[in-house]
Amino acid sequence: MRYAAEVRLNPLLAALPTYPTIAIDRVRDQLLAAGRPVYDFGTGDPIEATPSFIRDALRANIADNCRYPTVIGEPAVRSAFAGYAQRRLGVTLNPGTEVLPTSGSKEAVFHLPLLCVDPNAPDRAVVFPDPGYSVYYRGAALSGGRPHPQPLSGDYIQRAWELPIEVLRETRLLWINTPHNPSGAVMSREDLRRTWEVCREHDILLVSDECYMDVWFNEPPVSILQVVEEAGVGLSGSGVLALFSLSKRSGMTGYRSGIVAGDPKVIGALRTLRTNPGLAPQDFVNAAAAVAWADDGHAEQRRLLFGEKRRLLLDFLSGAGLEVTASEASFYVWVKAPGGDGDAFASELLKAGILTNPGSFFAVTAAGRDHVRFALVPDLDGCRAAVEAMRAIL
Ligand SMILES: Cc1ncc(COP(=O)(O)O)c(C=O)c1O
Repeated sequence: MRYAAEVRLNPLLAALPTYPTIAIDRVRDQLLAAGRPVYDFGTGDPIEATPSFIRDALRANIADNCRYPTVIGEPAVRSAFAGYAQRRLGVTLNPGTEVLPTSGSKEAVFHLPLLCVDPNAPDRAVVFPDPGYSVYYRGAALSGGRPHPQPLSGDYIQRAWELPIEVLRETRLLWINTPHNPSGAVMSREDLRRTWEVCREHDILLVSDECYMDVWFNEPPVSILQVVEEAGVGLSGSGVLALFSLSKRSGMTGYRSGIVAGDPKVIGALRTLRTNPGLAPQDFVNAAAAVAWADDGHAEQRRLLFGEKRRLLLDFLSGAGLEVTASEASFYVWVKAPGGDGDAFASELLKAGILTNPGSFFAVTAAGRDHVRFALVPDLDGCRAAVEAMRAIL
């Protein structure tokens, strides 16, 4: 028997929206083909070199025979992360039971709904910020959950306590993201405390995506783990997890290295889940991650550099009369489109060679569509040149 000419796709997959990048990519390619400069503030993938001590650790740990990595990973990376959590957050973690390495936080975001969503249950909603990182939606949908975007506007703070009670009753998993992509908004201690309270009341797993925890410009952002620690009740039974990443902190996007930390009961269940798909980071990646988490100096240097780029953009954009929203931390500057249409503004900027992402890239609802996001990618000279190019059109 022959296989059908068309692969019969999972209908959940076919229903996923595709990114509307095609038009923007076409214009970018035209500009490049015409020899015009393109300043790429699009995808949040830093260009600065990964510190050499991290690259050295990776190379030094490629064994003659790299055997299968374990789900829990070598103790060194978990202890190094626990050390970081103690220094940076004042949070004490048990590296044996409360810390698990992931292959970047993207896969963790995608796979976490598999842990708690019952596709046949009425309470299968997964709440997430909108606009937001698109994988919250995709992971929720492909696990058979019911994605429930929570639209943000104004200060772009997600207030779970404002969700209708019917939604909370049907929710299994609630995502928050602080500092937030794409807006750079930062949730306060009180915001986090209230969110956790709502989740405990409704027996919802609370997962805080904190992959931009070390990219801040005024005050260091507060982690949900600090809020639990300060409550003095211990992580066990808290129903709280937090995701961390070395992608932006240490310039390791290509290594794929993150951490999930929190409630040991949930971490235990996650360990079991993760024996199925083969998601464990390679031992040499974990070895590089261990030295990266153990060092704060390089993260501080990168933070200051991102701060300089941000300052250049902020000064110019505010001077040009544009409204910059939130943008307190993270790798992004979130700018209101002068005409109220982020897509149109992104196209306008692209004519001057400035590649940004319109808010519509990050939204399931209409939220944030009146904004564009600048990722702090080009180097300082690139940012200065981009400012001059924008000056000519704004
Ligand atoms: C909010 C958010 N979560 C998770 C990720 C994934 O990060 P990682 O590189 O650790 O997979 C990103 C990447 O841009 C992000 O913006």
